[in-house]
Amino acid sequence: MLVYLNGAYIDHTNASVSVDDRGFLFADGVYEVARVYDGKIFQMGPHMDRMRHGLQELRIRDYMIDGIPDISERLLDENNLRAGDATVYVQITRGAAPRAHAFPPPETEPTVYVIAKPFKQHPAAFFTDGVATVTVPDTRWSRCDIKSIALLPNVLANQQAKDHGAFEALFVRDGVLIEGSHSNLFGVVNGELITYNMCGYILGGITRQLILQRAPEAGICVREAPIQMENFDRIEELFLSGTTTEVMPISKVDNKMIGNGKPGPVTRKLQEAFKRWRSE
Ligand code: PDD
Repeated sequence: MLVYLNGAYIDHTNASVSVDDRGFLFADGVYEVARVYDGKIFQMGPHMDRMRHGLQELRIRDYMIDGIPDISERLLDENNLRAGDATVYVQITRGAAPRAHAFPPPETEPTVYVIAKPFKQHPAAFFTDGVATVTVPDTRWSRCDIKSIALLPNVLANQQAKDHGAFEALFVRDGVLIEGSHSNLFGVVNGELITYNMCGYILGGITRQLILQRAPEAGICVREAPIQMENFDRIEELFLSGTTTEVMPISKVDNKMIGNGKPGPVTRKLQEAFKRWRSE
């Protein structure tokens, strides 16, 4: 498996970074995960825009962004990933420098890592029957719009889900269902499709954005609004959205069933629409 690291294409087993890397010492960096359908990278432009946003917010040099799509294409070719599902993972950190909290000298080269690998699709039943979720208090910071590699709260939340035999953890902040540990959240409440508004409490998911932009084409109205825990009994449908989750119905939150426990009509319609969008 060939990967890209700091200007070179090398074997994955030989890829290593310095112990002084600020990604290792401070989680000082950003990442992206893009999906590859039938050999084509899906939504690469928006992924790169979001990465540039993160780098700019963290004041990490972003000159390398323009080269990432070509690097990713080459990795797909070199690793024979043009057939079937794959993902492209990109991580950029502030680079290696002696440990000190403040930024290192401006000439410090960021560390750039890109890997393309096969993606094992989730079991079909997850999409036809829905998945179980658990709620966890949202203990994250208020810049979740930056796709930072500092993912410890997400790791702990997802592990809590796994410990309960669930697929995803849903962060709850101030009585609102915010998003998943690695996915965004949509709900049909009182007949209306809603998802939490864009702010520092959620990641602006590329899949979320696509749904917001294109749901009307599928005859579905969607609005940015909070899904309140106090209205839980009025939730008719819930689903996750994300690069690796696509449009995934939720059948259960903690011990409560959503609707009749089967994916509802809005979710199913969007699953069909998403299949069309990704093959365009
Ligand atoms: N996660 N919210 C969070 C916290 C995420 O980590 C992700 C994606 C999403 C969905 O965003 P998108 O539609 O752009 O994939 C929302 C990736 C897949 C991951 O960490 O592996």
